[in-house]
Amino acid sequence: MKVGVLTGGGDCPGLNAVIRAVARRSFARGHDVVGIREGWRGLVDRKLEPLGPREVSGLLPRGGTIIGTSRTNPFRIEGAVEKVLANFQQEALDALVAIGGEDTLGVAARLYSEHELPVVGVPKTIDNDLSATDYTFGFDTAVFICTEAIDRLHTTAESHNRVMVVEVMGRHTGWIAVMSGIAGGADVILIPEHPISIDEACDDIMRRHDRGKDFSIVVVSEGYELEGLEDEGEVDEFGHTRLSQRGVGEALAREIESRTGFETRVTVLGHVQRGGSPTPRDRVLATRYGLKAADLVHEGSFGRMAALHGDNIVDVSLEEATAELKTVPPDWYGVARAFFG
Ligand code: F6P
Repeated sequence: MKVGVLTGGGDCPGLNAVIRAVARRSFARGHDVVGIREGWRGLVDRKLEPLGPREVSGLLPRGGTIIGTSRTNPFRIEGAVEKVLANFQQEALDALVAIGGEDTLGVAARLYSEHELPVVGVPKTIDNDLSATDYTFGFDTAVFICTEAIDRLHTTAESHNRVMVVEVMGRHTGWIAVMSGIAGGADVILIPEHPISIDEACDDIMRRHDRGKDFSIVVVSEGYELEGLEDEGEVDEFGHTRLSQRGVGEALAREIESRTGFETRVTVLGHVQRGGSPTPRDRVLATRYGLKAADLVHEGSFGRMAALHGDNIVDVSLEEATAELKTVPPDWYGVARAFFG
């Protein structure tokens, strides 16, 4: 077989570990592996490169993706779906492993259901917002980075009696904020799914200061809806605005300072959360997902996605995985909230 691999959407730690696992298992079966450059763009513009044992050597700890990525959506570009299908055929590919989040896998699901493209998916995103899997790879690393940052902000916050606002990624869901906030002992966490008001957040901070604590850590998810703050700036081919441009952390810090009178500073963690080497947990998860994807290809089980259920790697339908976003359930937010104020 000739197996194509692509990585789409925002990069995240562990992508290379998946590529390595797909390739290693495929080589063991005598299959050839081809890297498709820059996500779906590589199939539209026919940018491919062979991946042999030498190319996939040393990839396990390496961040980013050796085959590049993009937010290209062939369903939004005139004639692009036809190009994808034609290039797939002309390159004599037998199967495709698409490694991505809701957008990349949404395209994969449609190409499978509408055009019978033989594709399997691997769930990637630091946001952890894909349904039908307990965890996506990349999330653990992002949470680790944010937790370390919160720990560091604690010591400087305490020295200066300040409120520290930390803005983290997560687009429409607050998984990174909740997990790193719990792990880092945040005093208030604001996420899109359970939007407590700024008044409530300020009450929590005041209550804490009344108890004799002179500093507070506030974690805010970039997608938290702050009154009066507009989405602006570029929109990508999947219709998403760049949330980091909204400046929710800055706006929140200004509000907190003016309402409480406490000196407030803001740290926007940004793309640091996506860079660098994956944690051991993400390396292992990415590796297991990659092996499963290669197995699905070998069996001809297309339209499926590797997923984690409990401690087991299973497969689920791509359609199910991309039907809706996995948001933070109330009980998870309850764990965080038990420590507010
Ligand atoms: O989906 C992953 C993610 O990192 C989001 O958390 C964030 O909103 C977005 O990508 C940032 O995208 P870009 O890399 O295009 O700035």
